[in-house]
Amino acid sequence: MFKSKKYIELEDKYGAHNYHPLPVVLAKGEGVFVWDVEGKKYYDFLSSYSAVNQGHCHPKIVDVLKKQADTLTLTSRAFYNNVLGQYEQFITKLFGYDKVLPMNTGVEGGETANKLARKWGYMKKGISKNKARIVFANGNFWGRTLAAISSSDDPSSYEGFGPFMPGYDLIPYNNLEALEKELQDFNVCAFMVEPIQGEAGVVVPDQGYLEGVRKLCDKYNVLFIADEVQTGIARTGKMLACDYEDARPDILILGKAISGGVFPVSAVLADDEIMLCIKPGEHGSTFGGNPIACKVAQAALEVVIDENLAENAYRLGKIFRKELRDFDNDMITLVRGKGLLNAIIIKPKNGKEAWDVCLKLRDNGLLAKPTHGDIIRFAPPLLITEEQLMECITIIKKTILSF
Ligand SMILES: Cc1ncc(COP(=O)(O)O)c(C=O)c1O
Repeated sequence: MFKSKKYIELEDKYGAHNYHPLPVVLAKGEGVFVWDVEGKKYYDFLSSYSAVNQGHCHPKIVDVLKKQADTLTLTSRAFYNNVLGQYEQFITKLFGYDKVLPMNTGVEGGETANKLARKWGYMKKGISKNKARIVFANGNFWGRTLAAISSSDDPSSYEGFGPFMPGYDLIPYNNLEALEKELQDFNVCAFMVEPIQGEAGVVVPDQGYLEGVRKLCDKYNVLFIADEVQTGIARTGKMLACDYEDARPDILILGKAISGGVFPVSAVLADDEIMLCIKPGEHGSTFGGNPIACKVAQAALEVVIDENLAENAYRLGKIFRKELRDFDNDMITLVRGKGLLNAIIIKPKNGKEAWDVCLKLRDNGLLAKPTHGDIIRFAPPLLITEEQLMECITIIKKTILSF
């Protein structure tokens, strides 16, 4: 067996350098824990960017995956299969939409939502050919395709990759006035927004923002697209972060934890008026809606419901934020979040930054990753118990005090 160093060298030498991982080499996962190749055990406080909400290798999800893998893996959408329709019925009933369009990754979900919104804009709203605009918020993140980076205001996402997709515009996040100004342009077909901005560093908008978005979109006949790829599937203490307000999106994008991190699955949900704007042959994916993905996603969603993961995230999130807010330390300047999607902002001390804090957390048995230099996101699997969470809070406090 190789040691960690050897695995890191292999990735460095043969893999593209498009990531900068924390130096830890994982070999096994179970529930809230992961183990490295040397056998050291850690609490996972990233959950693969909120894809592993149900915990690592959840037995129910993995069993379903194995069974379906032995039976039928892929038919493509050239033919019907005996799994897709039942899954479509299940997920549309669960989230309350007429139809679902299955894809694989989160960013494909975003692309699908954008295409749907443009088609709807031309077919239903009456926007002139090629004039449709989609509005986004500053700080948004929805992936790495050319369309996704075209709407980004983060230079590390877009710099050097132009030319960009036309028809995209940015406004400040959590600002209804700015939104109303944009929506007055008849050519705007949609506003796409994360209910909480995950990659931006868990930026939580004011209470009432989403409801305001809903109302403005109604007023100006614009589609409200909610990107719940990171916030969805119980992460923020409700099944959807939009559920905190009276703010049902016209198009809902789900990904990541919809499969419990077992398989790439994403989904775009909408009602017929929107979804049926796309006709056969106009959009698709070889793997989208494959039998394994459908079985895995249904099992993963059932786990969230059966194990009350939203309620657990809601309750433990409150404890987590209270404990860290009451912990008076000048290195933590802000604690924010909802449910078990939280972040702290680190003020550097003696030249030590968020990255150094994460290295120390690793040494103390807890894995987290810094974002934007000074923010650390804390997002454990949602089946974490109160006792485990308290142990993790102790690790975090001890680590911060060591600086
Ligand atoms: C809000 C949001 N949307 C979309 C994506 C893209 O998902 P994927 O990496 O599966 O393409 C992400 C990934 O972090 C995300 O946080």
